[in-house]
Amino acid sequence: MRHVTLVQLFDHPITQKYVKRSGMAHAVACAYHAYHLAIEHGVDPDRATKAAFLHDIGHYTWYRDGKWDYNLYKENDIHAIKGSERAHKLLIRLGEHPRTAKEIALAILLHTDSYLPNGYLELNPLQHVVALADEADEEPGGEHHYRTISDRRARRMLSLLDKKIESQSKEDYIERSM
Ligand SMILES: [Fe+2]
Repeated sequence: MRHVTLVQLFDHPITQKYVKRSGMAHAVACAYHAYHLAIEHGVDPDRATKAAFLHDIGHYTWYRDGKWDYNLYKENDIHAIKGSERAHKLLIRLGEHPRTAKEIALAILLHTDSYLPNGYLELNPLQHVVALADEADEEPGGEHHYRTISDRRARRMLSLLDKKIESQSKEDYIERSM
């Protein structure tokens, strides 16, 4: 059973403030990529789409003299850490199961290794799917953060995705009980 829907997440003021900052169009596109990748990789689409939708919720704005300072961002960015905590708090507030909230938070924490010291990260299938979903929608020079989408269209697309996830989990349930 799903405790929280994508539309509920979309409607929350925290999502409106922070996901819009990093790009709602990118977030919605990633959620769709995550849905298909989850099915391909045998991962729970509910968790994958939520993590992909919220993966950039931790972005901060790095402006200097009114302009985006990429070097400042590169040096100081911790958006995956911040986003993981922010998404976790939001999910719990909305009534998400704590185990699911933790898995989503971890997938957000590990969706990029750009802030980590060089090394090798071993991702579990959910974390891998979320990282792939982000990559699938990336544009050179970070352009994906600037694509726009109307609130109406974003909400409609997420509601459609909610329905797909719900019917997918019904199908899985029927398959398991046969
Ligand atoms: Fe992203």
